Amino acid sequence: MDHLIIVTGGSAGIGHALLATAPEPSHRITVSRRAADDVAPGFIEADLAEPRSWARVGDVLDAVATEREWQRITLVQAAGTLAPIGFAGEVEPGAYERNLLLNAAAPLVLGHRFLGAVSHLRCRRELVVLSSGAARKDYPGWSSYCAAKASVDRWVSTVGAEQQQRGGVRVLSIAPGVVATGMQEVIRDTDARDFPEVERFRALHAEGALLEPAAVARALWGVLDDEEPSTGATLDLRDRIR
Ligand SMILES: NC(=O)c1ccc[n+]([C@@H]2O[C@H](COP(=O)([O-])OP(=O)(O)OC[C@H]3O[C@@H](n4cnc5c(N)ncnc54)[C@H](OP(=O)(O)O)[C@@H]3O)[C@@H](O)[C@H]2O)c1
Repeated sequence: MDHLIIVTGGSAGIGHALLATAPEPSHRITVSRRAADDVAPGFIEADLAEPRSWARVGDVLDAVATEREWQRITLVQAAGTLAPIGFAGEVEPGAYERNLLLNAAAPLVLGHRFLGAVSHLRCRRELVVLSSGAARKDYPGWSSYCAAKASVDRWVSTVGAEQQQRGGVRVLSIAPGVVATGMQEVIRDTDARDFPEVERFRALHAEGALLEPAAVARALWGVLDDEEPSTGATLDLRDRIR
């Protein structure tokens, strides 16, 4: 089967696990600063916190979507960061800007380009954005991340309503749960002054309660193989693991 899979943030963590567990056969591409040669022969090098990279990545999406007659095209936007962890008004302004550009703006701009690139195609088309429970809960120290994930969820539900009217692309926002990746290591290393809930995350780790990236990835591919949920849904993957 000709299945094109593009994962932003495919070089590490959940994105890497998604590429490693992707349905076979498929043509796999990561969009990230580092390559992921072990799981994806395709590499679009991009710093997605830099707005000037977005048009270039969008042009590649356009080109690759039509380079052959794919039977299925999947874009998963997994690139993300918590940095800088700390209170608004206290962290470094440039890092705060980069957080919002990567977590909030890039998924919407690239999602928009993806929909434009595949709108005229009749194959199975899927767009997934990785969200977080932080979209719905306040975590002092993560203000840019919480706000970014909330904006992603709103974008997905709005675009999903559009795709029901015309377009036919399945657009989903998926919160993966607490997953054993580099992002969680960064959380556990943070000072409680910058992230007052840090002890809860250290305790989850000590209890062995973190989800494995491969289990999360398999559950996500399972969601895409189910007919439900329908386009525009925001869902929590924890209900589907274990
Ligand atoms: N882990 C969790 O517990 C958890 C919980 C809820 C939601 N999530 C979400 O799940 C997604 C994946 O998280 P993760 O835990 O797998 O994170 P991770 O292990 O830290 O990996 C982050 C990925 O994002 C890419 N990335 C970071 N900054 C980038 C930039 N400026 N430009 C391009 N790519 C960039 C990295 O690639 P390069 O460094 O090569 O660029 C890497 O592949 C994120 O959207 C995160 O918000 C994770």
